[in-house]
Amino acid sequence: HEYHDGVKHLCERGLAKVPRKYILPALERPFMSKKDGATNLKLPVIDLAKLQGPDRVHTLKSLSKACEEYGFFQLINHGIASESILNMFQAARKFFELPFEERSKYMSKDQSAPVRYGTSFNQNKDSVFCWRDFLKLSCHPLSDVLPNWPSSPAELRQAVVNYSKETKILEFEDGSQLIVANFYPSCPEPDLTLGMPPHSDYGFLTLLLPDEEVKGLQIQHEGRWVTVEPIPNSFVVNVGDHLEIFSNGRYSSVLHRVLVNPIKSRMSIASLHSLPFNSMIRPSPKLISDANPRRYMDTDFASFIGYMASHEHKNKNFLESRR
Ligand code: SIN
Ligand code: FE2
Repeated sequence: HEYHDGVKHLCERGLAKVPRKYILPALERPFMSKKDGATNLKLPVIDLAKLQGPDRVHTLKSLSKACEEYGFFQLINHGIASESILNMFQAARKFFELPFEERSKYMSKDQSAPVRYGTSFNQNKDSVFCWRDFLKLSCHPLSDVLPNWPSSPAELRQAVVNYSKETKILEFEDGSQLIVANFYPSCPEPDLTLGMPPHSDYGFLTLLLPDEEVKGLQIQHEGRWVTVEPIPNSFVVNVGDHLEIFSNGRYSSVLHRVLVNPIKSRMSIASLHSLPFNSMIRPSPKLISDANPRRYMDTDFASFIGYMASHEHKNKNFLESRR
């Protein structure tokens, strides 16, 4: 069906209105409630350099507080070369600029394919589509996945290798990493649809590079949707479902969504980090006691992926079912 070719392809043919397939039910639309979106939010800032210095204890406390109260923070002084970030962004942009015939070579219905160009959230299940195309690249093990990554634009593979190696140092050994480049075309009626519906991320931590110019990410904070105001040269980091479980609910995997813009397209690069693919996700034994009983069942990683493949992605349904 035409919608499965992606929203960018649809827009390239010219659209004055949002097609019905993308129109959310009235109550799920972005500007429904007056209190939503009126506020821009500056996330707590965590300085990675300070984690290694004399301010370590204080920084760890701030980090913990941010994960409890927001589920999100901005990471500054992360040590990742701005060149790697720029190259990653530019290579992804060039990929989305390729002719549809070239991009569509990477379309796949298989959710576990090491490279996948797709649209919406789960195009096999979503009843309403969202205004987003994406390129997902699994980064592990590199030598196996690399030959499957797009060969065009020419610089893409090297840019992703460099970026994934650099971001990896912030993370687990032998962990899993998935890089998702998102493209949200400008939208003629941005109040009828979303670039991404409310969702939580499944992994441990997500490192997000939001568009430097166009805002759009909203998080749920104190019962309302607030727009994140990113600071330059930093990552927006969020707690995922796996960390919520591991922390036995102390840190929360907070719902977020993406608004679309009437004039400008928007891009973001998300890097999802977690434990190895074959591991079991469970609360840390250190965090369980008589006073603080276990709040989640053991769940294998594959169940998260399986659930996402077979369901319309809505809110935190799967995580709630693991309580
Ligand atoms: C995401 O939720 O993974 C993407 C957020 C964004 O595009 O800012
Ligand atoms: Fe997300």
